[in-house]
Amino acid sequence: MESLAGEEVHRETARAKINLGLKILRRRPDGYHDLCTIMQSVDLADQLHFYRAEQDQLSCSDPALSTGPDNLVLRAVALFRSRWTTPGPGFHIHLAKHIPMGAGLGGGSADAAAALRGLNHLCGNPLDPHTLSTLAGQLGSDVPFLLAGGTALAQGRGEVLTPLCWEGEVFYVLVYPGVAVSTAWAYGQVKPSLTQSSPYLTFTSSLSGGRVAGTALFSVLENDFQELVERANPIVAEVRTHLSLAGAQICSMSGSGSTVYGIVDDRVAALQAHQGLGARGYRSFFCVPA
Ligand code: C5P
Repeated sequence: MESLAGEEVHRETARAKINLGLKILRRRPDGYHDLCTIMQSVDLADQLHFYRAEQDQLSCSDPALSTGPDNLVLRAVALFRSRWTTPGPGFHIHLAKHIPMGAGLGGGSADAAAALRGLNHLCGNPLDPHTLSTLAGQLGSDVPFLLAGGTALAQGRGEVLTPLCWEGEVFYVLVYPGVAVSTAWAYGQVKPSLTQSSPYLTFTSSLSGGRVAGTALFSVLENDFQELVERANPIVAEVRTHLSLAGAQICSMSGSGSTVYGIVDDRVAALQAHQGLGARGYRSFFCVPA
């Protein structure tokens, strides 16, 4: 990290999410798509370090990421300041990046959510959770979920959330195949299902805000982006095969890709699968819900 004047005044953890199934229901008049997905935050995370500064600014451990006003973190800061205009100190935010980008793991969205949370905390919590969530929705469809994380059914364009209670232990092996997928490209390619019935949708409509048992959910997992992303990027299908051979009981893709995750109900077996994928040269992460 470059040398920063002054002491760190605050730190936020920006957790990644995975989509446990994802159905695209319809294209909307505003250009977005209505979807149905269960989102789960995991312990793979970026860190946001806050320092006092004359002006709001951003630095990042990954030189590939823009630190200009187009970065979602600085867009979150600007949006927060447009809503909370009481004069206060500026902040230098240093973003330590660990979540792969263009990976379907909501990395940029998690960073934006963490920036909103951090600024609200540092300013004495002037904005209530509902206002913060509204601002989050203006930054991206996944950002409202990533404000609080956990497990939730997400509908609408992703911002209509029903919290769920996860039952049982589960281990995830996340593998980034090394290709970035643009979310806008994937939504531009996807064909919403003509029939709005599927075992996954039957399962999610039976949840009504209650407990979700992994075994029942995992038997109906499907992701409407998976086939088209694998067709355009055969490496994604290869990774899925390697994950299965390494012992994952079920494999699926997160969001619009490219990350593939394997589900394993045993910690040792999950760690072995993670090490096996790492030995093949893939960026692999052993994760638990967080
Ligand atoms: O909301 P977010 O900025 O993350 O979305 C990126 C792009 O993905 C949007 O511009 C849109 O093209 C597409 N998208 C969509 N329907 C959603 C979420 C995203 O069409 N529910």
